Amino acid sequence: MEQILGIDVGATGIKGGIVDLKKGVIIGEKKKIKTPSPATPENVMLVLEQLISEFSWQGKPLGIGFPAIVKNGTVWTASNIDDSFIGFPLEEELHKRISAQVSIVNDADAAGIAEMTFGKGKHMKKGLVIMITLGTGIGSSLFFDGKLIPNTELGHLLYKKSIFERYASNSAKEKKALSWKNWGSEVNVYLNHLNHLFSPEAILIGGGVSKHFDKYKSYIDVNTFVDTAQLLNDAGIIGAAMSIKHKI
Ligand code: BGC
Repeated sequence: MEQILGIDVGATGIKGGIVDLKKGVIIGEKKKIKTPSPATPENVMLVLEQLISEFSWQGKPLGIGFPAIVKNGTVWTASNIDDSFIGFPLEEELHKRISAQVSIVNDADAAGIAEMTFGKGKHMKKGLVIMITLGTGIGSSLFFDGKLIPNTELGHLLYKKSIFERYASNSAKEKKALSWKNWGSEVNVYLNHLNHLFSPEAILIGGGVSKHFDKYKSYIDVNTFVDTAQLLNDAGIIGAAMSIKHKI
């Protein structure tokens, strides 16, 4: 079980790659298919089956990171996917269709697991570490003494009669055409809020936009250690693949 297919389901794309579980790296090329619209269970499962066959991974175990609360393989929220996913037992239904062992976890939890094992978090095994992913939504993963507390959804903390995700995600920056300064200031409010609520040892920032940290780090002023994640966009795929370890 050294190589496992990992798939990261996002609001815009569904990406996969074969992961070397010992090294925490993706082997060979990644493949990406546009997220179907509407992103209903049936449409998403068709894309997942297509990706599995493109990797010739039929019948073999795989792990999937999914952008919602996932408990025991069932999806419980739908911020950036179709509402018909709420209450859908994705793990069980997919298992029936592909006849393979499959593990489904929250996408930010998957990214966090990878970062805490192979990225900057691997030396952060004491106290509380929060990793957030700034993408279409804001995902979060919380680790205490290195152990994941799943499905924390800290992007949904209330802010300005709405939630932080609508102000500090990458899609908020794009939708409102915010400058790095204006968007960075919203991210700063968000990080300070997290620090105030949780007093973490460190906050790691992941998601595609984290690679532009240089452009907004001067607007970030938080009284705890803040850094970017190391694995960037691969973290979701790597962590998804790692999640199967708990199933086998
Ligand atoms: C969802 C989370 C997800 C995050 C990142 C949020 O809108 O509620 O479950 O982790 O987006 O995809």
